[in-house]
Amino acid sequence: MLGAIQFGVLAACIVLFVPMGMAGWHLSRNKMLFFSGALFITLAVCVHLTPYFPSVTDLVASVSSVVVYDNRNYCINLVNDIVWEVKPRSDVELVNMNVSKLDYYEKRWDWAKSRKVGACGFQKLDKSDASDLLNGSWVVVAGDSQARFVALSLLNLVLDSDSGRMNSIRSDLFKRHSDYNIVIGEIGMKLDFIWAPYEMNLTDMVMSFNQRRKYPDVLMMGAGLWHMLHVTNATDYGFHLKNLRSSVESLLPFSPELGADGPVTGSVSIRSPHLFWIGMPMLINGMLNTEEKKEKMNDEVWHVYDRALGASKLLRQTGGPLVLLDIQSFTWNCGPRCTDDGMHYDKVVYEAAIHIMLNALLIESHQTL
Ligand SMILES: *[C@@H]1O[C@H](CO)[C@@H](O)[C@H](O)[C@H]1NC(C)=O
Ligand SMILES: *[C@@H]1O[C@H](CO)[C@@H](O)[C@H](O)[C@H]1NC(C)=O
Ligand SMILES: *[C@@H]1O[C@H](CO)[C@@H](O)[C@H](O)[C@H]1NC(C)=O
Ligand SMILES: *[C@@H]1O[C@H](CO)[C@@H](O)[C@H](O)[C@H]1NC(C)=O
Repeated sequence: MLGAIQFGVLAACIVLFVPMGMAGWHLSRNKMLFFSGALFITLAVCVHLTPYFPSVTDLVASVSSVVVYDNRNYCINLVNDIVWEVKPRSDVELVNMNVSKLDYYEKRWDWAKSRKVGACGFQKLDKSDASDLLNGSWVVVAGDSQARFVALSLLNLVLDSDSGRMNSIRSDLFKRHSDYNIVIGEIGMKLDFIWAPYEMNLTDMVMSFNQRRKYPDVLMMGAGLWHMLHVTNATDYGFHLKNLRSSVESLLPFSPELGADGPVTGSVSIRSPHLFWIGMPMLINGMLNTEEKKEKMNDEVWHVYDRALGASKLLRQTGGPLVLLDIQSFTWNCGPRCTDDGMHYDKVVYEAAIHIMLNALLIESHQTL
């Protein structure tokens, strides 16, 4: 009988070389993905059967790590899996300084140390890696104030965060309820922030991309809090999210059903835009700054809105087109020490969202390049 290690190597060879062999037979990428998927499922079934054959547990370990490396969707699903450490700062000096309450706590985050997550090799990108990755691209961030913070974090990463330039960007970007555009000449990156507090505004924006037949390379968007406060009707929210979903799907040069080999109309870029949903933060009711917010934006309403998002199938995890940036879990785990008003969080939360986005982008661009 073969030893577990030989078995593992054999499994690795199957997963690696069979699809490659098929590529030699001029199969389309769809078919290759299908075969990889079929192999994956076969191996997964084996993995689930092995508890009944305890002697091959080592084999399981080697197979599952191979599978992890092979399946990029698997890593996209884990990319939000981060842990937080929030503790009081040791330098008491701060108390005498003119700093916000948020600065009393030191906040760190990193990807979970589990084996599954470790196998995906996520990393925080520094300024130069992020610049390389985004070189020459058009990034659109659209939504409410949460999206504004996400845009700010991205600029903070690719520019020098303390520079005078960043200070002026900050004040321009935070002009109330307005759009903002900037071209970072050094890396040829264009960033548009589009003020779109309601999902309808996002739908309009997506339709305007469609009309102009010009699509951003990276699109991050999110909305919900305004609707929650001013409309307070989750059914209506869900309805508009479904509209958004259909307009996003028509934005894709090829719809997900057709797959990557589907027909491409006109001169539209073959490259699919990379699409992200900026999730809603947890709301800490007691900290919200008006009575109206405390009443309308309560936990129950929040959860009904969250379910409406799930039901709209907008997100990748429910079969939709957008990869979630899981602000909900970041804000929940960072906690009350990370917010002043129970709604807008410390910049570190939005920084995390940017690193999640960049890692997902790395995974995806390997897949599509
Ligand atoms: C202290 O903070 C207040 C409010 O943010 C600000 O108006 C003031 O200029 C700050 N003072 C110094 C010395 O930084
Ligand atoms: C961006 O790409 C251009 C051309 O592809 C290259 O000349 C330039 O050095 C790149 N810049 C950075 C910061 O990577
Ligand atoms: C967003 O949509 C609402 C509702 O349709 C509309 O009243 C508002 O003018 C729109 N705002 C922007 C910035 O497009
Ligand atoms: C909520 O929105 C739905 C769909 O737009 C609408 O049919 C319903 O009447 C609204 N409910 C309330 C209480 O306004």
